Amino acid sequence: MRRNGSLICIPKFGPIVLFLPPYKKDSEVADIIQLLPDNIANQIAAGEVIQRPASAVKELLENAVDAGATEIKLIVTDAGKNLIQVIDNGKGMSETDARMAFERHATSKIREIEDLFHIKTMGFRGEALASIAAVAQVEMKSRKADDELGTFIEIENSAVLKQEACAFSVGTSISMKNLFFNVPARRNFLKSNAAEMRHIIDEFIRVAMAFPQIFFSLTSNGQEIFHLEAGSLKQRITQLLGNSYNAKMVSVKEETDYMNIYGFVGKPETAKKTRGDQYFFVNSRFIKSAYLNHAVNSAFDNMIAKDSFPSYVLFIDLDPMHLDINVHPTKQEIKFEDEKIVYAFVQAAVKHALAQFSIAPSLDFTLNADIQNLDAVSKPFSSENKEAASSSNLYKTFTQKNQAHAIDATDKNELKHWKSFFESEKLEVKSEKLEFEQKAINSQPTIHTSQFIQLHNTYIIASTNNGFVLVHQQLAHERVLYDRYSVAAHGKQMATQKNLFPVTLELATADAMLLEDLLPDLATIGYEVEPFGNNTFVIQGTPADVLQGNEKHSIELLIEQFKHFSSDIKFSKREKLVRCMSRQHAIKAGQSLTQKEMMALVEELFECSTPNITPTGSPTYLEFKEDYLDKMFGR
Ligand SMILES: Nc1ncnc2c1ncn2[C@@H]1O[C@H](COP(=O)(O)OP(=O)(O)O)[C@@H](O)[C@H]1O
Ligand SMILES: [Mg+2]
Repeated sequence: MRRNGSLICIPKFGPIVLFLPPYKKDSEVADIIQLLPDNIANQIAAGEVIQRPASAVKELLENAVDAGATEIKLIVTDAGKNLIQVIDNGKGMSETDARMAFERHATSKIREIEDLFHIKTMGFRGEALASIAAVAQVEMKSRKADDELGTFIEIENSAVLKQEACAFSVGTSISMKNLFFNVPARRNFLKSNAAEMRHIIDEFIRVAMAFPQIFFSLTSNGQEIFHLEAGSLKQRITQLLGNSYNAKMVSVKEETDYMNIYGFVGKPETAKKTRGDQYFFVNSRFIKSAYLNHAVNSAFDNMIAKDSFPSYVLFIDLDPMHLDINVHPTKQEIKFEDEKIVYAFVQAAVKHALAQFSIAPSLDFTLNADIQNLDAVSKPFSSENKEAASSSNLYKTFTQKNQAHAIDATDKNELKHWKSFFESEKLEVKSEKLEFEQKAINSQPTIHTSQFIQLHNTYIIASTNNGFVLVHQQLAHERVLYDRYSVAAHGKQMATQKNLFPVTLELATADAMLLEDLLPDLATIGYEVEPFGNNTFVIQGTPADVLQGNEKHSIELLIEQFKHFSSDIKFSKREKLVRCMSRQHAIKAGQSLTQKEMMALVEELFECSTPNITPTGSPTYLEFKEDYLDKMFGR
């Protein structure tokens, strides 16, 4: 007999056929609401949790981590469409638990609502296995250490097909075949194998990165593509992101009783044009947060180009009490009790790390007073908090020497109180700043002014008291001019060189409006330009750097560059102007310089507050010290 089916469409999930009893007139049945059968309810729930093979990979890997495994192997075929298998050596499941695990809302990880605020496991919703069993053919083997035999269970469409005792090593192996075999609409939504595999690798990397003390491997279509021996975080990062990261990372590590942060940020020169290697973990959980990302970016401030992104792998540990992880089914979005604190902390910690490695020119730890007065900041330290923090996986990882951090000078064994952290930090920063400047003076090469060599009309070689420096003339000059114009833009007006014959400049309407807008700021840096009506301007004078005859071109270029910059709201009008000006007026590579010009440039460069980089973060010179040279020659 054919039953009446009605097609309903559930967003994110695709069409599902619901079988309802044959239609009867309202007068015949008063009640029309029915509970959905389990398998359908599970399928609907699965639409949220298991969106693609990669989501199943994430759930299975996290379960293995939660089970305390030290070895986790992931095997996929056809980008997980055909098979996803995770084998772990964790604590395994009893016969009953093995069956229970696939029930909806079945979890061993929380018992009451209170537990939600103390979660230390990756899972807690008890949805993953039920969802997986609703949309794939699942086989599981599991054995606890105390049991002689393991248990084997086969489930399809939420129904147990078979369960029996079996021989198995301690741990669990779950394989799910033919994902979405019973939800064709969903299966058709899957992307190409290459695309799905990329998602799987992303998830794999996120979990593997968070647990460097666990061995992980990933085998795809019979080929092992990751084989990650347990080790330090630094080792794990290079295993996952490439060996080149080894020398390019700066360690970040700060502890307070409110929260700890540790991990690595890439040195400014490793910043990328695309948002690539950026990882935030909160209590070992990978999260996406534009807000925290902004905090890191802002710590890099002027050190990297405006259109590039710093790399980072940062872990934040804080009492789960101050978090809500349960805002999204995949738990990638979380809510902090107080975002402002976390923001300030992340920003300060990254700045501090960069400064310690002498990458940042100066320190700015001025914290918003509001933040310091917040309850959470002045909350008393409790031993409970401390215990919670120190029992976390991550805490253990990073306190193992030479693992997650390399800064010893500031290593403080005790958790500092947040507030005192920042107070003392301010003092430390002051003295550190002095020290840093002192160091900068000491460590800055003392240039011998006797002779300079210009190479390829681009590089200047200057000998120093203990080696030599190789200066890039254009980048060095960019830094010099930037500093000079910045001073001018903030009060000390620059000298104007009057034109013998005023030059007229006619512009397109939009450009004319822009220039009009810029005139007052241009005046501070030495441009004397007057509007003459009808989109025409008269250039009466220019800064001393502008060559006679070049006035018109210089302003046109400036407008062009300014437009290029204008989408960047981070910088003020003046700052943009100063950046454009310094770039434009810098001596170009390829220009021959006299001894005197080279000397002036090098001297001026080392008078800058940050001689080693341009405003956008490119290096201006390289230093070669004698001992380094000796070593290179095996002396
Ligand atoms: N690999 C595993 N090893 C041991 N136990 C597991 C494993 N995977 C799942 N479990 C058990 O099954 C339960 C249900 O898993 P799951 O559906 O992912 O929910 P959750 O992880 O949210 O608790 C877990 O709470 C755990 O007790
Ligand atoms: Mg789980």
